[in-house]
Amino acid sequence: MKTTFRASPDVALIKYWGKKDAALRIPANGSISMVLAGLDTTTTVEFQDHLTADDIMIQGETKEIEVKRVRKHLDRIRQTFGKNGYAKVVSENNFPKGTGLSSSGSGFAALTYAAVAALGLTDVSSQQMSILGRLASGTACRCACGGFVEWTEGRDNETSYSQSIYPADHWDLVDVIAIVSRDMKKTTSTEGHALAETSPFFAARQAHINGKLSVIKEYLAAKDFTPFGELIEAEALEFHSILHTSNPSFIAWYPGTIDVMERVRMLRKNGIEAYFTINTGFNVHVLTLPQYQQQVADTLQESPFVSQLLTAKAGPKPNPVTTHLF
Ligand code: DP6
Repeated sequence: MKTTFRASPDVALIKYWGKKDAALRIPANGSISMVLAGLDTTTTVEFQDHLTADDIMIQGETKEIEVKRVRKHLDRIRQTFGKNGYAKVVSENNFPKGTGLSSSGSGFAALTYAAVAALGLTDVSSQQMSILGRLASGTACRCACGGFVEWTEGRDNETSYSQSIYPADHWDLVDVIAIVSRDMKKTTSTEGHALAETSPFFAARQAHINGKLSVIKEYLAAKDFTPFGELIEAEALEFHSILHTSNPSFIAWYPGTIDVMERVRMLRKNGIEAYFTINTGFNVHVLTLPQYQQQVADTLQESPFVSQLLTAKAGPKPNPVTTHLF
């Protein structure tokens, strides 16, 4: 059976950083995100009898490092469900991958859903989809769900998974994403997670992270944008302070990243509510409300560093599409 799924990346509001168990990707802490409608990975999978190995094409390329990670995930899925056979996989993104926009989250969420469906499995729970996604990439654990998502850290493989805490239409937030570069990140998130504990600030972060998770849930429930925005921006800076003070230290930002951060603060001085957050890359998510969207976009567009703006709202869980990529 040939199946195609489309999945969106997410923007972490309270970030996943550090792992209690790297092999199982059990995170050091829980995290909360918004899945992003409009940005997506589309993946077609078909198990074909004549294949002697998985045949994988990502964005028109067969990069060894990416192909290996996809093969490993297909092995995991085959093993979990006691299935054999090799698959043809074709995957396309409509946004830049490897630049800090969680393309591994949407990529492995789409692959998990498409591969499971291509094997003809119809009774796999969303909890198990999230667990399978997590084993490939932490963010895929959340991108297996839709809307506003909480990943509960858990203790082991069975207890570490994500759930949607609000549907996409809960809150009309807008994420204006400033693309300042399409370079591939120099340090991957997987490499960065392994350094988290070397930062002297990591223990301080761990000491108050559960409090932050509770507070962001209160703001989300009440749709209280000002303290919500202040918290996610402070969280992004705390997270980057861990990167800056890890050993070896790791600076993800480009000059354009800082220019966008300053423009966001200038917008606020002018009464326009917008707050930034950044993952392990240089491109910047700017969260705002619909009434400010145009002014935010105009201001970011004026930056000489910004080559493109993408706009997203809260989005759905991975869903099947009928147009296949091969
Ligand atoms: C900074 O999920 O990309 O974006 O599990 O090793 O694949 P692996 O890492 P990944 O880490 C994402 C880290 C982050 C924060 C977040 O999205 O919560």
